[in-house]
Amino acid sequence: MAATLTRPKLDVKSLDPYTFLAVIGKRVIHPGGRRSTEELFSLAALQAGQKALDVGCGVATTAIQMARRFRVAVTAVDISPLMLERARSNVRRAGLERDIEVEQGDILGLRFPDGRFDRVIAEAVTMFVDRQRAARELVRVCRPGGMVLATEFFWRQPPTDEAREIFLGQVCPGMQLDQLDGWVRIYQDAGLSAIEVRSGPFEMMTPRGFLQDEGLVNAFACMVRGLSHAAYVRKMAWLMPRISRAVPYLGYILVRGVKPAAR
Ligand SMILES: C[S@@+](CC[C@H](N)C(=O)[O-])C[C@H]1O[C@@H](n2cnc3c(N)ncnc32)[C@H](O)[C@@H]1O
Repeated sequence: MAATLTRPKLDVKSLDPYTFLAVIGKRVIHPGGRRSTEELFSLAALQAGQKALDVGCGVATTAIQMARRFRVAVTAVDISPLMLERARSNVRRAGLERDIEVEQGDILGLRFPDGRFDRVIAEAVTMFVDRQRAARELVRVCRPGGMVLATEFFWRQPPTDEAREIFLGQVCPGMQLDQLDGWVRIYQDAGLSAIEVRSGPFEMMTPRGFLQDEGLVNAFACMVRGLSHAAYVRKMAWLMPRISRAVPYLGYILVRGVKPAAR
């Protein structure tokens, strides 16, 4: 027991920040937290019986909410085996195996035919890949008249060179951010119309945001798990000061657009 406490099986040092957060049990892993997910639900106008696709579903927190609260049939896709394993176990624990299908998939090449879903969502995913291509793929699998909704990081104010280097060079290497108009243009160019935008601060990793998103019990459980291995503690000690340096410049943007009906 003592050996597993100090030596987890994963190579924790090389985990990206969101996988690390999933490993310590965090359930909401996108910059707008529960607040942006509630905004997404309100813009999505979900109705019972609709088919929804959640791409980059993480541990399936939003997929579970969609199925439980709105009674939509959800397909939840992620590229990461670790996320998929946790997503499946959370869906099983929620008793929603008949309502949510969890499967592996890549946002850059989804296996679904054109127009398959009424609603397509991606919370904090396209920024990790070729954003234009990912946005086109989300729109492709949405039915004409359906909606695509995506949450991303954006620069709320121009970052200092130091904040930019820390966040995009060290914390999330390879991630592509934009200012608000840049994100909107990407989704417009992908074919969406009637675009609506919400935005707000990046609070997910502030103490207040963490508590709001996870609730007292899970926030405490994450803390205990984060302290359970020396490698987790080292990762937190590396991650937290860097994230805090970037927090003032970052925010979330939620874009909702309608795929025009076929003529
Ligand atoms: C920041 S997390 C967001 C997770 C979840 N959407 C949430 O909000 O809690 C990004 C997720 O995107 C997934 N991901 C990254 N690249 C992907 C790709 N090419 N296709 C599908 N999922 C991808 C990651 O595995 C991870 O689960």
